[in-house]
Amino acid sequence: MKIFETHAHYDDEQFDNDRSILLPQIIAGGVSPIINVGATMRGTYASVKMAEEYDDIYAAVGIHPSEYKDFNEETIGILRNLSKNPKVVAIGEIGLDYYWDKDESVQKFQREIFKRQIRLAKEVGLPIIVHSRDAAKDTFDIINEEAAAGLKGVVHCYSGSVEMAREYVKMGFYIGVGGVVTFKNAKTLVNVVEDIPLTSILLETDSPYMAPTPHRGERNDSSYLTLVAGRIAELKGTTAEEVVEITRNNAFLLFGKVPKDNE
Ligand code: NI
Repeated sequence: MKIFETHAHYDDEQFDNDRSILLPQIIAGGVSPIINVGATMRGTYASVKMAEEYDDIYAAVGIHPSEYKDFNEETIGILRNLSKNPKVVAIGEIGLDYYWDKDESVQKFQREIFKRQIRLAKEVGLPIIVHSRDAAKDTFDIINEEAAAGLKGVVHCYSGSVEMAREYVKMGFYIGVGGVVTFKNAKTLVNVVEDIPLTSILLETDSPYMAPTPHRGERNDSSYLTLVAGRIAELKGTTAEEVVEITRNNAFLLFGKVPKDNE
């Protein structure tokens, strides 16, 4: 069974020297499909281009909260047009990041562009990929308000509490789990994975970031997802194969535009 990689950034410059060699290797090694996630406008265009180049790669389009300077009055129209591309399967990554931006007016702008991109996702019928850092409550409140109207998505690189994870699961949201779950000090995330059902978990790397143990601090890539699946299996008392299979099904349910015959 192939691994469904739900979150990577292969447009990152850290892959500039070997992208065209590495990607076919990763895919041949059993990772497919891969969702490449935009964060800037440049990264969004690069993700769509990569998705057009590789059968196994799909794209998410959106502006990351820390990249708010990329957002202007034309942005929603551009994202709307891109979302018509059959290989664009989500709006992301979008959300709130109060860790890097402490300024209240910036945080307010982040909330505004988060909501505008959520509204676009609802309009075009795509799920959202959410980034949230030091902003758990505001992120939750905004999604909670919108989820009632049928919004679907994943909280990527989940770092919140067990209680909040349960609430997201109740709303039908997925919890994105990556390399952090292998870290020795990842107590809260370990508790979250133990607590929520496997049917609410998605596998992701956030490559080139967040490499799992024993590669912590190195450049990450999707071939390390076997380590993440292994750790989740340990925590759930099951096999890595079952983790791969169930999370793959979860991803196809959420990202409905990805054709299932990809297997
Ligand atoms: Ni990311």
